Amino acid sequence: MTELSLGLTHRFVPATAPGLTPLLLLHGTGGDETDLLPLGRTLLPGAALLSPRGAVLENGMPRFFRRLAEGVFDEADLRRRAADLAGFIAEARTAYGLAAPVAVGFSNGANIAAALLLLHPGVLAGAVLLRPMVPLRETPPVDLAGRPVLMLSGAADPIVPAANVGSLAERLRAAGATVSHETLPVGHGLSQADVAQAGAWLTRLAAA
Ligand code: MLT
Repeated sequence: MTELSLGLTHRFVPATAPGLTPLLLLHGTGGDETDLLPLGRTLLPGAALLSPRGAVLENGMPRFFRRLAEGVFDEADLRRRAADLAGFIAEARTAYGLAAPVAVGFSNGANIAAALLLLHPGVLAGAVLLRPMVPLRETPPVDLAGRPVLMLSGAADPIVPAANVGSLAERLRAAGATVSHETLPVGHGLSQADVAQAGAWLTRLAAA
């Protein structure tokens, strides 16, 4: 498939099975639009995959928004980039004829997916957040009624404090999202347990 020229550099893989929710794949710091395609194919075989590249560069490494230090975000930039990503998703849905996607985001990609849920609640049908943290100190009240969200954290994650991710889960639940939050016996990197849990969750969602 030849990708169309849209607001963000991206890869698009058309669905090969009918009726599956498209996946929006959001890479971590230093990744790109090709990184999570194998994961997407494994998690929900046959689903359409939309995978943009973050437009910010940090020492040459793509990200979805700027940060001031590790875990300290430039919130003005994050708000702007979340709006840009929401615009890109709307554009891509029209261009490729897609339903609202479920995001699968890792690390920096999980953080912008969480920001999308909190700032642009109509954009995602749900989200798998792999090693997320609270993206914004303050957000306006938001209605995420019934939106399914899976959060997978690492018990030995040196980047994400447990209290921080716990507060994200609470905030999403308070907004009405249906949140499953598991803490795996791993660090910040992805593990086989992430693939197994996320795949099972997405398969259940697709069957619901
Ligand atoms: C972030 O900057 O979004 C988080 O610290 C995770 C990372 O990308 O390292």
